[in-house]
Amino acid sequence: MKLAVYPGSFDPITRGHIDILEKTSKIFDKIIIAVVHNINKKALFTLEERVELIKESISHLDNVEVESFSGLLVDYIREKKACAIIRGLRTVSDFEYEATMAYMNKNLLPDVDTIFVMSRPEYIFISSSGVKEAAILGGDVSAMVPLPVEKKLKEKLKQ
Ligand code: COA
Repeated sequence: MKLAVYPGSFDPITRGHIDILEKTSKIFDKIIIAVVHNINKKALFTLEERVELIKESISHLDNVEVESFSGLLVDYIREKKACAIIRGLRTVSDFEYEATMAYMNKNLLPDVDTIFVMSRPEYIFISSSGVKEAAILGGDVSAMVPLPVEKKLKEKLKQ
């Protein structure tokens, strides 16, 4: 079985991430979305909230599951016996960071490659932090995030 892992902070999941999943779920037998606590980022949603929001947003994708993990990505990949890491690329500016990470992971786990998938052009401007900033300032983010995320953002920002 061809199993791939799509790791990220997903704080929160956006339509851009879902686009990547819709494409790659046709290529792999199974995909696990691995939600990570990125120590360099301050999160708005807890890991549990992020996992729940993803579950609600990907119910149309039968072969995609979601989990959270901590530690080194390659250890998780090894444990799951995955054959690939999925990452999305929006613009050239993503490439440098992504290439460094892919080489680092390849060095740590030579049998596994990172597969890059290009974002749909209409989604290249979307980022989780952009969505949060726009929502906090009262912007309409409904075109950028799935409905469960839009609702949770409104709920969270009322608190
Ligand atoms: N559509 C929309 N947004 C996209 C996107 C797409 N197709 N592709 C990337 N993004 C955005 C994300 O929303 C995120 O935006 P933000 O910075 O505003 O939050 C940004 O691009 C990239 O974040 P993300 O994909 O969540 O990755 P990350 O940089 O937070 O974390 C990990 C990357 C989780 C894979 C990496 O930190 C990791 O592997 N951590 C585990 C520890 C480890 O093994 N470290 C060594 C790694 S070499």
